[in-house]
Amino acid sequence: MKKINVGFLGLGTVGQGVWEQLISKASVWENKLDVQIDPKLAAVRSLDKKRDIELTTEQLTLDKKAIVTHPDIDLVIELMGGIEEAKEMTLLAFKNGKSVVTANKALICEHGEELLEAANRAGVLYLYEASVAGGIPIIKVVQEALVGNLIHSIQGILNGTSNYILTRMENEGLSYEEALGGARKLGYVEQDESLDLDGVDAAHKLIILTYLCFHKWFPISDIKVEGIRDVALKDIRAAARQKHKIKLIATLRQKDADEGVHCSVRPSLVPLSNNLASVDDAFNGICIQSDIVGTSFLIGRGAGRHPTSSAVLSDIVDYCRNQGGRKIPESDTEQKLAPSSSIAQPYYMRIEVEDTKGVLSEITQILSSNDISISTIEQEMNSDQDTASIMLTTHECLDGNIDKVKSEISEKSFLKEKVVVFPILPA
Ligand code: HSE
Repeated sequence: MKKINVGFLGLGTVGQGVWEQLISKASVWENKLDVQIDPKLAAVRSLDKKRDIELTTEQLTLDKKAIVTHPDIDLVIELMGGIEEAKEMTLLAFKNGKSVVTANKALICEHGEELLEAANRAGVLYLYEASVAGGIPIIKVVQEALVGNLIHSIQGILNGTSNYILTRMENEGLSYEEALGGARKLGYVEQDESLDLDGVDAAHKLIILTYLCFHKWFPISDIKVEGIRDVALKDIRAAARQKHKIKLIATLRQKDADEGVHCSVRPSLVPLSNNLASVDDAFNGICIQSDIVGTSFLIGRGAGRHPTSSAVLSDIVDYCRNQGGRKIPESDTEQKLAPSSSIAQPYYMRIEVEDTKGVLSEITQILSSNDISISTIEQEMNSDQDTASIMLTTHECLDGNIDKVKSEISEKSFLKEKVVVFPILPA
């Protein structure tokens, strides 16, 4: 079995998440790719720092060049952040025949053109799924899934921190400063706060998306970028009165080629009926308009250990596939379908009945004898005045028990139509 050795530049929150998943899912990579992926060495700032994963001293180094020049490392995961040194290390990795996976949106935004060309010349890959919207696979959606589409526009909430702040202002009536304090406490705000609060982080991601759609790197200085510092609670309340929410929206749009590409990051009023209005807290959401599919919408977590690790892992897998690592996974003989009768969830029922006494009590009796508790119940007379619709919802109960209730009621002579049963999804 082919072995792929991975070296890390930086082993912070995301790096440790990726390292952990590479080890804990070793059998998955073997089964899906027929490769063994080995996290071999990580360059860190401190060897003694306490980390969440177990590492031996041989797995850590203070020397970044040791990673990018290491004869046994095949793939470099760049999670060190910053621009100049990260660029230097990335170019050195390419020179040494190593592909690089990165989450460094600022670096790609500033030097993407040069880095992608350098990777191409060196015959290696430069992969950056984790750089935009964390766990949402937007890069692969634009590059692969929608590749046959002409993208007319993308509008997205690409910065989770500012979305978290705006959501708390909206939902709890907090001032901007109070909500920012909450975000700081949770460690959401970047060390350079301006990246989140002045729209710069969202703009970095927008530049990358614009490149993917229109194959041109626009300088960030040429686009209108406004952050959320000027959004006051009174603006949020005024927007709410008009049935809108205020969100930090990154937009790219091209109506026709002559007109050029509109790019901006700005706090914007979003109608409640627009999907982006439902993207709250630290979530990201992206709406794509393209010529063949029409509207596509993606939502998910845009930051944090697990979502960002997920994106980095998908690039690692892409690299492995590019190296010939592919396999039809062996059939898992242990897997089986769960019987639907064992599913537990709440239900809605509509029962059309003859309007005679004792009917309701018979129905509630059938429900309780099948261990089902009613949550709400209402009865509506039908226009014929002889029949009524009983609409009820249940607390969580077993699907098998609801089936029994349905068949017992179906036997009753008071029933006028087929019993309707729908599951109720969680909020
Ligand atoms: N600061 C970024 C955000 C982190 O809040 O979305 C993920 O890029």
